[in-house]
Amino acid sequence: MRSQDRFRLTPPRLLLAVFALTAISASVALAQMGAETMGGVSYPESAPAKPIPKWTVDDIRKMRAYPDQPPVIPHSIEGYQLSVNTNRCLSCHKREFTEGSGAPMVSVTHYLTRDGQMLADVSPRRYFCTACHVPQADTQPLVGNTFKDMSEMGVKHAGEE
Ligand code: HEC
Ligand code: HEC
Repeated sequence: MRSQDRFRLTPPRLLLAVFALTAISASVALAQMGAETMGGVSYPESAPAKPIPKWTVDDIRKMRAYPDQPPVIPHSIEGYQLSVNTNRCLSCHKREFTEGSGAPMVSVTHYLTRDGQMLADVSPRRYFCTACHVPQADTQPLVGNTFKDMSEMGVKHAGEE
């Protein structure tokens, strides 16, 4: 009777105890890792954000890196509303308004649907300009880049002979 009442470490119970200990120590270790480093800053402290770099707004159209590149925006777009109801960009860049604004017209591709059908107005897939066109800032690249302009890759240029 007495021996039955006492807690005995039978093999299944031993296994359960080992498992529970492992689980506890693993979660403690994980919690410590989280507390130590998050991008070199101890959690839950946060690093001060770097100031937003100034955009280049000199109005000089930049050369494209390759023929099909969406040209970058060389002017300020601060406060230009671009929503479903209003498109400030089109008020200058749409074909009908370019004479007054002096802005380069959106190219013909902006009037084509995905199936190549020409529309009277800018195609919905080209409506949100800043999905493709972005302003630039004079900053150092974050990662190295070995991009080479295709005109420097030994091609024979048309009209040069
Ligand atoms: C007030 C008129 C005006 C508005 C509004 C405007 N632009 Fe422009 N945009 C211009 C003019 C003018 C140029 C020619 C370069 C210059 O003078 O800055 C230009 C140039 C550009 C270029 C360079 C084209 C090239 O071939 O290099 C892009 C891209 C562009 N704009 C995109 C936009 C986008 C996107 C918006 C809206 C967020 C916008 N623009 C709003 C007038 C405007
Ligand atoms: C899905 C991407 C995309 C969207 C959205 C888009 N563009 Fe473009 N845009 C391009 C590409 C790519 C080019 C260069 C090749 C071409 O003309 O198709 C270009 C060219 C241009 C050019 C130069 C045209 C020329 O003949 O030199 C202007 C200006 C321009 N876009 C303005 C706009 C404006 C304004 C909007 C918004 C109404 C807009 N784009 C929306 C991709 C886009």
